[in-house]
Amino acid sequence: MSTQVALIILAAGKGTRMQSDLPKVLHKIGQAPLLAHAIDAGLSQDPARVIVVTGHGADAVEAVAQSHTNATCVLQHEQLGTGHAVAQARPALAGFAGDAIVLYGDTPFIRPETLEQLRHERARYDIVVLGFEAADPGRYGRLVTNGDDLDRIVEFKDTTDAERAINLCNSGVLCADSATLMDLVSRIGNDNAAGEYYLTDIVAIARARGLRAGVVRCDEAETLGINTRAELASAEALFQSRTRAEAIEHGVVMQAPETVFFAHGTHVGAGAEIEPYVVFGPGVSVESDAHIRAFSHLEGCHVSRGAVVGPYARLRPGAQLDEDTRVGNFVEVKNTRLHQGAKANHLTYLGDADIGARSNIGAGIVTCNYDGFGKHKTTIGEGAFVGSGTMLVAPVQIGAGALVGSGSTITESVPDDALAIARARQENKPGLARKLRDLFEKRAAARKGK
Ligand code: UD1
Ligand code: MG
Repeated sequence: MSTQVALIILAAGKGTRMQSDLPKVLHKIGQAPLLAHAIDAGLSQDPARVIVVTGHGADAVEAVAQSHTNATCVLQHEQLGTGHAVAQARPALAGFAGDAIVLYGDTPFIRPETLEQLRHERARYDIVVLGFEAADPGRYGRLVTNGDDLDRIVEFKDTTDAERAINLCNSGVLCADSATLMDLVSRIGNDNAAGEYYLTDIVAIARARGLRAGVVRCDEAETLGINTRAELASAEALFQSRTRAEAIEHGVVMQAPETVFFAHGTHVGAGAEIEPYVVFGPGVSVESDAHIRAFSHLEGCHVSRGAVVGPYARLRPGAQLDEDTRVGNFVEVKNTRLHQGAKANHLTYLGDADIGARSNIGAGIVTCNYDGFGKHKTTIGEGAFVGSGTMLVAPVQIGAGALVGSGSTITESVPDDALAIARARQENKPGLARKLRDLFEKRAAARKGK
């Protein structure tokens, strides 16, 4: 059995450069908070514990961490540095034996394979640090190596000229035995240029105690951290292009992938076709061989195989489309299941409804689900036919095989196989149109003559 692992995710920082009241780790990429990306990267390792170190905006950060996974949040009252932040995890690690992986809440792109590699290298080293060759090392901490071994990490503010010339930089991610890590962080001081407790100091402390440290290298893009709005925007672009490439690789058909926007966690099955300008919100799954036509917007919904959605359709949370259903242009579906083969092809709102198999919902139908106070349900039976321009005033049920005449306003349930017509009876007045036209023409002529 491989060693158990705990995650320590640092998320206390304010993110001053974001120019925002929102804590930095709650800014979104692919419509999910940065913190959710970081947690999910770590969850790939099947951790026994997830510990999130909160500080700025602790309540909001905690709410997201806990809605996302069963995390323990520990509060870092003052942000005295990354070493101090990791030390806050101590009580949450009580009784845990195994490795700890430190991640940053503002670093969303770490790959599962990379974390795997860090854990693997623990066989050789007491501490394994994730590093990268930086195109421009800028203000990153530098990794000072000796052959394969890592000697120490120098923070930019404390570097000598020679150390600044090093391109191998610290990502911040590391892995060590949790008890060793807690012991090492308790020994960190703050006698440095920033007056902070640097997590990075643990490498030199460990070496002095006869422990070994090593480096795993990853691509720079993977360690990309978000500090500014501009970085957030380019990270979003990177997320989108990566996700599109993965979807294509996985067998999703897209004519113009650069126009399709995915969310973190969007699932699209192989062979599904996504036409241009489709936007996915959170929580969408689309099965293989479904077809999402252009300009559709989907969130919190499921689309089964053989279903066709759009063009210009909107699926909102709780929309569930069974196999071979049709949802056409300018149709909005919310908290509604369309059973197999049901069709709603034009200009329709279906909310809080259950639409029977093979039923046909005509053009311009509204389930009037809201009375200003509460939401009410509409149920439509199998094989029912609802004529165009019908208002279904919920709560209401249309029986299986029933037929509703066009332009009806249905306020009472319709039995199975019944025909319901609920509109004023039509009256024709022969010749009246001609008479009115003559009258109006005369009046207009009289006005001109004046
Ligand atoms: C840190 C590293 C640096 C590395 C860089 C990579 C240290 C001392 N330096 O520097 O070597 O190259 O990341 O991006 O570790 N945080 C807390 N509490 C604190 C301080 C920070 O939770 O008291 C969190 C922040 O919210 C952030 C992360 O830790 O998520 C990193 O902190 P940051 O201030 O960005 O560290 P850097 O100076 O960038
Ligand atoms: Mg930083």
